[in-house]
Amino acid sequence: MKSILVLGGAGYIGSTTVYELIAAGKHVVVADNLQTGFREAVHPDATFYEGDIRTPGFLDSIFEKEDIEGVIHFAASSQVGESMKDPLKYYNNNLCGTEVLLESMVKHNIDKIVFSSTAATYGEPENIPILETDSTKPTNCYGETKLSMEKMMYWTSIAHNLRYVALRYFNACGAHSSGKIGEAHNPETHLIPLILQVPNGKREYISIFGNDYDTKDGTCIRDYIHVTDLAQAHILAMDYLSRGGESNTFNLGNGVGFTVKEVIETARKVTAHPIPAKEEARRAGDPSTLIASSAKAKEVLGWNPQLDNLETIIESAWNWHKNHPNGYAN
Ligand code: UFG
Repeated sequence: MKSILVLGGAGYIGSTTVYELIAAGKHVVVADNLQTGFREAVHPDATFYEGDIRTPGFLDSIFEKEDIEGVIHFAASSQVGESMKDPLKYYNNNLCGTEVLLESMVKHNIDKIVFSSTAATYGEPENIPILETDSTKPTNCYGETKLSMEKMMYWTSIAHNLRYVALRYFNACGAHSSGKIGEAHNPETHLIPLILQVPNGKREYISIFGNDYDTKDGTCIRDYIHVTDLAQAHILAMDYLSRGGESNTFNLGNGVGFTVKEVIETARKVTAHPIPAKEEARRAGDPSTLIASSAKAKEVLGWNPQLDNLETIIESAWNWHKNHPNGYAN
């Protein structure tokens, strides 16, 4: 049986996708440099290669040793704030890494790639919900490099025998039902894990960044999508390419927005903890509202997110964080 190569398979969304691929009966090969991923997050049944996709010959040697059907590519830097302070790190890791990858794929005649893109490719949205055809004007370097990765795949697909699917995620959250893997970033910047640090005794209160946005309660609205639903979309996208589907781009979200205050309130209910909150200044670069239209992914890929209730999402995140208050360290 051929294998799927998952680059960045020790990270949050990558490891969840590996668990779901293995549950679906696939053979999986994982490569990760473990700079932000964790060895413990790699599924025990996956074949693991520790290394960096930019290292000359690393990917070539995997393609020579393993019988690879297609690649799912998560190996990239993904923090908006860091990308503004150190843009060249993002150009190097995200763009140089992808260039080395595509060159190696073309050389070994591997013709299918699914990769993680982001809602940050849109920048300040023109319409809500956001459609794939809306204009892309990233407002941060992270989004810019992901958009450039999409374009690199596009031009490569024109010149060579290679097709791609770009999946533009909205706000990934929650944890896999196995309880073995979950979100663990250092430093953590995402809303739900930061909120859950309060009932875990690691933080006294949650900061609310901005209370004067043009939304129902003044706080930002986001479309929170469960990581297992994202993982399923990668499997469906690879199946779509295997059936001969043409290169394509899809939004992945639930199509429902929640304010920061609503997320905090739901976390209070789930954890039965008062979770104090402090209203603070806006965080630079945050758009007021981001909600996906995922109609295209539903229609073309047959994607059907299952964990679309905010309470269920936060319960699954809480199940991970309360059992792993220090992430993979315990
Ligand atoms: N927020 C707070 N307090 C916090 C942390 C976040 O109020 O302590 C707010 C933010 O201001 C934002 C919302 O919670 O309004 C969500 O913030 P996150 O940092 O969790 O997520 P973002 O929406 O900023 O970022 C997500 C992805 C990025 C992606 C971006 C697209 O995590 O990878 O969407 O715009 F680039």
